[in-house]
Amino acid sequence: MALNKDVEKVLVSEEEIGSIVKRISAEIDRDYANSGKKFLLLCILKGSVVFMGDLMKHITIPVEIDFMKVSSYGAGTQTSGRINILLDLHRSDFSDTDILIIEDIIDSGRTLSYLVEYLKLKGANSVKTCTLLDKPERREVDFTPDYCGLKIPDEFVVGYGLDYDEQYRALPYVGILKRSVYEK
Ligand code: IMP
Ligand code: MG
Repeated sequence: MALNKDVEKVLVSEEEIGSIVKRISAEIDRDYANSGKKFLLLCILKGSVVFMGDLMKHITIPVEIDFMKVSSYGAGTQTSGRINILLDLHRSDFSDTDILIIEDIIDSGRTLSYLVEYLKLKGANSVKTCTLLDKPERREVDFTPDYCGLKIPDEFVVGYGLDYDEQYRALPYVGILKRSVYEK
């Protein structure tokens, strides 16, 4: 398949993503099989939607799904550092539920550390996190995900749900975006 003209190179191929999804879904199946609670996969919109869709097809234990939307990014490739909840959960009692937050990528760590605290305050039985990608070099707050697909270097990436300015989400691979696209 021809590379998108704005992509410098493929960082995680479709095939590699497929094996990450299989590995993580097997870990999740194993870890939650005997919990005895409801199990909620919580997709963080919009970037995690493709990863979540693939994961839920491979997980074999019963799952519920829900969605939240938060913003930490200003325009472009820089984080604003403030978290705003744009779409919230509408259930009030989570005491019978294990929540697994599904994220596309961890950068500063602010989004997930905020969300974990927020969902614990809502009384969830447990709150864990799963990310496709992690850029540990970029961390501003101490945060380690429970499940991680791949650690990547500090590059701005797009595809498989991840965007730049709402573009490139539908690419089937994760690629490094050419700097000329955002350094104008
Ligand atoms: P954090 O709160 O700084 O960890 O931000 C995580 C969020 O920033 C992710 O959910 C993405 O929406 C966005 N983000 C961080 N790095 C990238 C990237 O390389 N490409 C696209 N989005 C990114
Ligand atoms: Mg995101």
